[in-house]
Amino acid sequence: MRVLVTGGVGFIGTNFVKYVMSNRPDWSVTVLDKLTYAGRQENLSEFENSDRYSFVKGDICDAAVVSRVMPGCDVVVNFAAETHVDRSIDDPASFVRTDVEGVRVLLEEFKKDNTRKVFLQISTDEVYGSVETGRSSESDALDPRSPYSASKAGGELLAMSYFTTFGVPVIITRASNNYGPFQYPEKLIPLFITNAFQGEKLPLYGDGGNMRDWMFVTDHCSALVAAIEKGRPGRIYNVGDGQEKTNKEVTFAILEATGSDSDLIRFVEDRLGHDRRYAVDVSRAASELDWKPEIDFETGLALTVNWYRANAQWWQSIKSGEFREYYKKMYSARLENSERNQ
Ligand code: NAD
Ligand code: DAU
Repeated sequence: MRVLVTGGVGFIGTNFVKYVMSNRPDWSVTVLDKLTYAGRQENLSEFENSDRYSFVKGDICDAAVVSRVMPGCDVVVNFAAETHVDRSIDDPASFVRTDVEGVRVLLEEFKKDNTRKVFLQISTDEVYGSVETGRSSESDALDPRSPYSASKAGGELLAMSYFTTFGVPVIITRASNNYGPFQYPEKLIPLFITNAFQGEKLPLYGDGGNMRDWMFVTDHCSALVAAIEKGRPGRIYNVGDGQEKTNKEVTFAILEATGSDSDLIRFVEDRLGHDRRYAVDVSRAASELDWKPEIDFETGLALTVNWYRANAQWWQSIKSGEFREYYKKMYSARLENSERNQ
């Protein structure tokens, strides 16, 4: 089986390719990645000499590149996206472009060959919007509330329309918050782990009471392989661990795992439109894909902290580059205000 993995050198893409290379020896992988700020080709350098792996630098919105790399592929796994909610508040256009238009370009090419097996669109639990109580199931109405989640909802609705209209074998997964190795340090867990290592403040938004359902990234990868092998075209599958934590609880767990002091915490001005809680019902994935998560939060966090400790060069090179400007823009005023109000 030949799999085209778009966005394959981002966080989840990297972990997915590693998972497939170890666990599916008869699959080969082509990665198509634009190498935005979030993509690092060197994440997969161990496979450079493998005849099961190839890398193409390119944009999923570029139909010429897509029509060059997709022929011969049986499966497309579309991870490529702009993914950070905070950045989507500042620059929605890049999100609409990649997360909606990019999906259209991929689908147009995919539909030219009706022997292809699966178009797997990686979506997010954020499309359900904030869920104050209970758990979202796949038939619930969508209520995306940020430019990021609205773009992801647009991408998956478009993908499903290609199933209905053209019979393209689309499968959609909606995952909860992932964490683990190779996550860009703009996201809560890697930002707070690396800030704690550096003795920097941990900027908690609002009251720190927002809740997320945390899933170790390899559990997501095993669900995606199960969706490719056992999923039904036209079907949507929630994927998550049910390990709900407030951001404050996550922060205290990070402080403990890194041996840091709680005086690093700063409560800062909240994210605009900040969704209070996400939680997904994963019973469909459990019964139809025969999938279950295996890594509990304490184990996953210890693995993650150890990875960032052992790979300081990976994240230090990110944090010392253009990230510094991003961090200043996002956090300087917030941190100064919070010091003033202490
Ligand atoms: P990431 O930001 O770490 O990586 C995104 C990758 O896509 C990068 O390698 C980037 O270079 C590439 N990319 C961006 N625009 C591109 C374009 N136009 N053409 C080609 N490549 C492009 O993201 P991630 O956290 O690994 O997320 C991967 C996917 O999973 C996304 O679709 C995201 O919406 C979804 N998702 C993420 C999470 C999570 O917690 N991280 C949870 C649910 C769903
Ligand atoms: O739920 C799935 C989604 O999870 C994915 O679709 C997104 O691509 C991914 O980025 C993630 O979105 P979140 O917004 O939930 O993740 P983030 O790590 O940015 O934030 C997690 C929580 O922590 C959220 O409530 C905001 C809060 N937070 C985040 C940052 C970066 C802080 O309190 N301080 C911070 O500095």
